[in-house]
Amino acid sequence: MKKEGVVPGATAAATPATVAAPAAGGGDAAAIAAGDALFKGNCAQCHAVNEQVVGPALAGISKRRPITWLIPWVKNSSKVVASGDEYAVALFNKFNKQQMPSFALSDKEITSIIAYVTSEEGKASTVATAGVTAGNAAATDGQEAGGAEAGAGKYVDILLIVLVVVLIVLVVTLVIIGNLMKDVLRGRKDLDGRDVEILEQRFDWGKLYRSPMLRGIVGVVFALVLLYEGVQSVMAVGLTQGYQPTQPIAFSHKLHAGEHQINCAYCHTSVYKSKSANIPSANICMNCHSQIKTESPEIKKIYRAIERKQPIQWVRIHNLPDLAYFNHSQHTQVAGLQCQTCHGPIQNMEVVYQYSALTMGWCINCHREMPLNTKDNKYYDNLVKLHDTKNAGAPFTVSSNGGTECSKCHY
Ligand code: HEC
Ligand code: HEC
Ligand code: HEC
Ligand code: HEC
Ligand code: HEC
Ligand code: HEC
Repeated sequence: MKKEGVVPGATAAATPATVAAPAAGGGDAAAIAAGDALFKGNCAQCHAVNEQVVGPALAGISKRRPITWLIPWVKNSSKVVASGDEYAVALFNKFNKQQMPSFALSDKEITSIIAYVTSEEGKASTVATAGVTAGNAAATDGQEAGGAEAGAGKYVDILLIVLVVVLIVLVVTLVIIGNLMKDVLRGRKDLDGRDVEILEQRFDWGKLYRSPMLRGIVGVVFALVLLYEGVQSVMAVGLTQGYQPTQPIAFSHKLHAGEHQINCAYCHTSVYKSKSANIPSANICMNCHSQIKTESPEIKKIYRAIERKQPIQWVRIHNLPDLAYFNHSQHTQVAGLQCQTCHGPIQNMEVVYQYSALTMGWCINCHREMPLNTKDNKYYDNLVKLHDTKNAGAPFTVSSNGGTECSKCHY
């Protein structure tokens, strides 16, 4: 491992420094918009700008790290870590050796993501200050502060409503004027036949209704909407993303895993050792609840289950079909993935819901991108050497090791 470290390090340093650093603050709007989309598509599952999710908050990143570091990092972070880069190694250790996947993004795309992040920095606090300023101004002048940028969206809404009202008033006025003029004309005697015809002309709704063109357009639009909805619902058959059943006891992960910081594996004891993560039995609850909140009606449900010698009937949320093989220990212990990568912010969930789609595409996408966690794993030593001699520079992902072969998950 150590020996190969030299090569990636050299490549990382050799990455062209020609890419312009993103403009602080303003930045160019097109790059920011592109960065926004790229960020949401690739990074948002693990990063937010102003708070830590799976990975660190990215606010201030353009000041913390030069773009010449950021580009190779996003392309292949494990290579930067392997090169012995001090900052990268410290960060990697701080985040429990969790590997960030590699991304086949261009230098320009990465620069636009950074520009987007820079433009989003401190957004929450800016809005809050703008709100306070607006509030103060309103209190002193009795009118909204015109300068507060945060209120711009609201002004556009108000402007639109005013415009609609003006238009309605205009239409009504025109109809009234039209009718008045018709009445005046009808009073005149010197009109010939054609003038009268024009005067009494009415809009022919029947003709519009019979128009084949209009019928065609409506028909096509209707068919397209139907097709779209149909495809959407067919694609969603068997998908249970977002499933959040009511559980028999109001057990809260937010309270236990979040506020009280109880380790996931304290309850899901087998998650690092075996294929499935177990659901804790009532006696694990009793380690604490023989003392804590003993009078709570929810806790009494635990006592009742124990008295009756019956398990608590938790409703299962995640459930792959039997045709697929998934093993927790391989992902948590060997790959070193955090639970949140797949299960989302469990520590903030009052009631657990299925965060990921759990489709085959979901498994495969990660296997294509995620580098193998080969550190301190003798099993991989020879494979890494073989891979590096054959495809120097390419990340050693799960799929390079056969992780997308059908028989790995189906047998
Ligand atoms: C699967 C989760 C995951 C995804 C997806 C992900 N990251 Fe990361 N990222 C991490 C983790 C974890 C770290 C902390 C370092 C480590 O453990 O390797 C990190 C660190 C970083 C850092 C260094 C932050 C610092 O404070 O120095 C940057 C920059 C970064 N990621 C950018 C990105 C960008 C840009 C994307 C999208 C193209 C992205 N990440 C996608 C998990 C992820
Ligand atoms: C105090 C015990 C306890 C701790 C700590 C705990 N859990 Fe749980 N977990 C449970 C119980 C009980 C259930 C079943 C009831 C439910 O779904 O809320 C459960 C359910 C789950 C489920 C859904 C299982 C299904 O039915 O598909 C996931 C995923 C999960 N936990 C992940 C985690 C993660 C990740 C952590 C750490 C951040 C964690 N748990 C910490 C007790 C715990
Ligand atoms: C490591 C200790 C610990 C374990 C294990 C534990 N809890 Fe708790 N539980 C707590 C603490 C601490 C509170 C918060 C008490 C408070 O708010 O004063 C709590 C509160 C609760 C509450 C809310 C009670 C109420 O009325 O406010 C429920 C329900 C609950 N736990 C269910 C469970 C279940 C079910 C299990 C087993 C799967 C479990 N707990 C395991 C420590 C634990
Ligand atoms: C690579 C993605 C991934 C990671 C990482 C992961 N899980 Fe899971 N988890 C799943 C999948 C997929 C299922 C559904 C398994 C099935 O139905 O056979 C699942 C199911 C569960 C269940 C329900 C019981 C079971 O085994 O079916 C619990 C509880 C759970 N996970 C807890 C955890 C905890 C705690 C962690 C972190 C220590 C964790 N998971 C990490 C993907 C993941
Ligand atoms: C967030 C990323 C991620 C997701 C999502 C994920 N995996 Fe994996 N998976 C990995 C990593 C990383 C490894 C490599 C672990 C190792 O070093 O052996 C792996 C390894 C495997 C292996 C062993 C492959 C081999 O070469 O021996 C199987 C089987 C597997 N995963 C099944 C699944 C299934 C089934 C799903 C979906 C339900 C899934 N994985 C979802 C990251 C993921
Ligand atoms: C990384 C793991 C993984 C690999 C590799 C994989 N699959 Fe799957 N496959 C799954 C999972 C998980 C499901 C269940 C998804 C669901 O229910 O939506 C699935 C579902 C399927 C289904 C649908 C079954 C049904 O009833 O809907 C077929 C067919 C299938 N896989 C074929 C294949 C073939 C062919 C390959 C090889 C080219 C392959 N799979 C490779 C994980 C995998």
